[in-house]
Amino acid sequence: MGKLVTILFLCSMVIVQGIDEGPKAVEHWFKNLSQKKEKVTKLHFYFHDTISGKNPTAIQVAQANTTSQSPTSFGATFVMDDPLTVGPESNSTIIGRAQGIFASAGMEELGFLMTLNYVFTCAEYNGSTLSILGRNPIFHTYREMSIVGGSGVFRLARGIATAKTYWFNATSLNAIVEYNVIVIHYE
Ligand SMILES: *[C@@H]1O[C@H](CO)[C@@H](O)[C@H](O)[C@H]1NC(C)=O
Ligand SMILES: *[C@@H]1O[C@H](CO)[C@@H](O)[C@H](O)[C@H]1NC(C)=O
Ligand SMILES: *[C@@H]1O[C@H](CO)[C@@H](O)[C@H](O)[C@H]1NC(C)=O
Ligand SMILES: *[C@@H]1O[C@H](CO)[C@@H](O)[C@H](O)[C@H]1NC(C)=O
Ligand SMILES: *[C@@H]1O[C@H](CO)[C@@H](O)[C@H](O)[C@H]1NC(C)=O
Repeated sequence: MGKLVTILFLCSMVIVQGIDEGPKAVEHWFKNLSQKKEKVTKLHFYFHDTISGKNPTAIQVAQANTTSQSPTSFGATFVMDDPLTVGPESNSTIIGRAQGIFASAGMEELGFLMTLNYVFTCAEYNGSTLSILGRNPIFHTYREMSIVGGSGVFRLARGIATAKTYWFNATSLNAIVEYNVIVIHYE
């Protein structure tokens, strides 16, 4: 296993073009896979989930006819394009977006099914993605979700994303969530 690399995610102003994602470049990358070394990258950022207010970044797109009677809003389904930032402040530097779907999938305990991509826009991660598939019981202190793949610098990635609520407004349902991500991918 490669060395542990901690990324502070100070998004530099340097413009970095994404890596070549054409089919020839991808095939070449796979041919050379046996010579590549695994490495571990840690990422840390804040996820801003705004459901209500003037500029929501997560919107409800579906629910069942029984959702409003359910204590867990079972069946409520949202699509999000939530900013990811360096710090918890709303004006903190954006390093990417969380784009995907979350749905209330627990009938007894509130727990979201999370299916989303982190789309990074920062420095050498610009244009690279990580794909998350996990369970998010939002009232637990820590929620562990699987990273099941990635693209760009994160090709064939696997890892774990840990969520911890930083701020939650129970009236508006808006939240700021701290994420620690640890991912194995290739140099
Ligand atoms: C990210 O990549 C896009 C397109 O490749 C480019 O327009 C943009 O300037 C890049 N941004 C950064 C911060 O490197
Ligand atoms: C394959 O990857 C290794 C390690 O990254 C690199 O040193 C080598 O030049 C690559 N070979 C080709 C043909 O790209
Ligand atoms: C919900 O829809 C189903 C299927 O159309 C129907 O059988 C059921 O009675 C409805 N339930 C309520 C609470 O409206
Ligand atoms: C964010 O706003 C606060 C006060 O509103 C300000 O002190 C801070 O410098 C701002 N940060 C950035 C990164 O713009
Ligand atoms: C929580 O949300 C409600 C409804 O949008 C708002 O009136 C209230 O000011 C918010 N509270 C905080 C602490 O932001």
